[in-house]
Amino acid sequence: MRHSRAVPLVLTLLVLSLPMCPAGAAGAAAAPRPWLDSSLSPDRRADLALQAMTRAEKLSLVFGYFGSVMPNKGYMPPPQARPGSAGFVPGIARLGLPPQWLTDAGLGVATQRASLYAYRERTALPSGLATTATWDAALAQKGGAMIAAEARASGFNVLLGPGLDLVREVRGGRSFEYAGEDPLLAGVIAGAQIRGIQSQHVIAVMKHYALNDQEKGRNILSANISAAAARQSDLLAFELAVEQGRPGAVMCAYNRVNAVYACESEWLLGRVLKGDWGFRGYVMSDWGAVHSTVGSALAGLDQESAYSFDSEPYFGTALSAALASGAVPAARLDDMARRILRSMFAAGVVVGRDDSVPAAIDFTADARVAQADEEEGIVLLKNAGAILPLQRSVKGLLIIGGHADRGVLSGGGSSTVYPVGGNAVPGSAQGWPGPKVFLPSAPLGAIMGQVPQANIRYLDGHDIAAASRAAAQAERVIVFATQWAAESQDVALKLDGDQDELISAVAAANPRTVVILESNGPVLMPWLANVAAVLEAWYPGSGGGPAIAGVLFGEVDPSGHLPVTFPASLDQLPHPVLPGSGVPAGRPFDVDYTAGAAVGYKWFQKRGLKPLFPFGYGLSYTGFRFSALRTHISDGQLTVSLTVTNIGSAGGAAVPQVYVGPAAGGWEAPRRLGGWSKVTLPPGGSATLSLHIDPRLLAVFDAAHDRWRRPAGTYDVWVGDSAASLELAAKVRLPAWSHGARWTATARTAR
Ligand code: BGC
Repeated sequence: MRHSRAVPLVLTLLVLSLPMCPAGAAGAAAAPRPWLDSSLSPDRRADLALQAMTRAEKLSLVFGYFGSVMPNKGYMPPPQARPGSAGFVPGIARLGLPPQWLTDAGLGVATQRASLYAYRERTALPSGLATTATWDAALAQKGGAMIAAEARASGFNVLLGPGLDLVREVRGGRSFEYAGEDPLLAGVIAGAQIRGIQSQHVIAVMKHYALNDQEKGRNILSANISAAAARQSDLLAFELAVEQGRPGAVMCAYNRVNAVYACESEWLLGRVLKGDWGFRGYVMSDWGAVHSTVGSALAGLDQESAYSFDSEPYFGTALSAALASGAVPAARLDDMARRILRSMFAAGVVVGRDDSVPAAIDFTADARVAQADEEEGIVLLKNAGAILPLQRSVKGLLIIGGHADRGVLSGGGSSTVYPVGGNAVPGSAQGWPGPKVFLPSAPLGAIMGQVPQANIRYLDGHDIAAASRAAAQAERVIVFATQWAAESQDVALKLDGDQDELISAVAAANPRTVVILESNGPVLMPWLANVAAVLEAWYPGSGGGPAIAGVLFGEVDPSGHLPVTFPASLDQLPHPVLPGSGVPAGRPFDVDYTAGAAVGYKWFQKRGLKPLFPFGYGLSYTGFRFSALRTHISDGQLTVSLTVTNIGSAGGAAVPQVYVGPAAGGWEAPRRLGGWSKVTLPPGGSATLSLHIDPRLLAVFDAAHDRWRRPAGTYDVWVGDSAASLELAAKVRLPAWSHGARWTATARTAR
């Protein structure tokens, strides 16, 4: 539920009038404003600016507005807000501090409530799972930089992404926005995206902190998990992203964690994020996630976003009153404001003049960034008889379904990017969390471009019998199959509608059938044994058509690897029935994370379950051999080296993965991902890699003492190209190691 009681317009104007008051502007312009000196550190600049601020100005920084009209509530955004945007926080003109202009989200610049606004047409990256499937942090960083540059050029300086809640619940409707099921992979990829975003003078907002893993009941459910398990799983992903990306902001989630709302959890915000991880930025709430003034302020919430989504404007007059009564100390308001200021200075958002003027965007260049991301993110799941790559000599192709003649699917909700050229298939799922948007990057056209001489026929797939008859006559068949997902609703673990029946019928008529999936995440594949090949293309983004065609015809070697386990059946899941199913809307319920830290492949391994496709899996058109596994211990820490050789006849990229586990057991699961590398090699080429294993991945979290601990003992080290195919193994004896939960740059070698 994104909506709540309306706040009278008069209050909006009253609060707005404080920061926007132009009175001081002329006089103060002459006064020295040392915080504008960019040679000073962000901390120093924040301190200096804070000293110059009135209480009303500090209060104005911690109170956010929705940037779009809410007709049902009579809410009008401040006039300075970007039309149709996610949020706005007024600037303080007399101090030279610009407004914060907020836009969604992690896949590109979104427009809210598109029906009310001329939407911004922008470039969409492929889904978060696609980017994560690249296992390529450099590419993730480039993607972050691209969308942030578009945000900047659109007048925004805060981007509400990336999202990295672990995909604990494969039916979660926002998996497409996230970074998979493994904390190391998610943390590294999101950390890189954050670096990319902030390289463009845009504040990145890491979200949704924490455990917002399903949409059903997201505003009310309690995700229950032990502190130790959380620190070794979901929170570790955020911890690594904080370290590697240093995001300016963190968005606290809608849900409750162990019965306490995430935005008023002192444990999550004060103790773990700001305490143990030393996070220097600010915590903003999700839209409608605040439930108190004093509780939230004291727990560590620094900014109420879009107050009109909350049932009261908790950080408006109520916060002033709490400060006046002493219920919230003045020092806490200073801390909130200082954190926001510091992030603005650190990201380079404050330049002392209005630099928010919209700029031109090179959409062709940006689509190429999205395409490169998708090319590396597509995962080849099956390739029987090496049917792929398709030969250029192919004479006839039958292409079926998925609106492949017009575009590629994208996910819905607040992250929806309206594409350049408009929705290729308008008219479906109108209204929140729709519309269902197809990006006009048609695979059909791109395939025609690859094989201009071939006779290519397209059928929309609605008539299954006709599709099957045509398939029987076809040389090769390519079926595009979709699963639409959107914020605020979860999905079944299957393709939409009758597409399973369609694929089964087509495959029965023609075994030379290739299936291309455009899905939120994992789906069941009842037809898998009968098709020749399957490519998981996720939501392919603005360069999706050519990326898919490039992989189909071998112009690009598929090098994506699954960032999430594909289950073989629902009963393999920790919760075979989605938690909260049947619970009436608005009624609280608990989601007990009995799997603890055993998320995804760890759960499967612990339970001895064989998934449909394991985490880390992905085929290539060439082949790789791993050899020469060695372990090195230096200063008590483990480094693993190995050699990877391209033993096939095509160039390609390998993703050797290192897994680790204690010989004596005792972890949440037999093994964890400890490191990986992505390496591109020509035929016959080889490379020797050296991977440092973060000591936390060899340790368990001792919540009672707030420490990571690794007992002395024998540890197994494996190398493979998925969590389930381990080709090399070694044993290593490691000394005991422990480290306080507060991590610093020197922590790797500290004892
Ligand atoms: C979503 C956030 C988003 C915010 C602003 C919320 O509904 O959960 O991810 O950033 O809206 O649109």
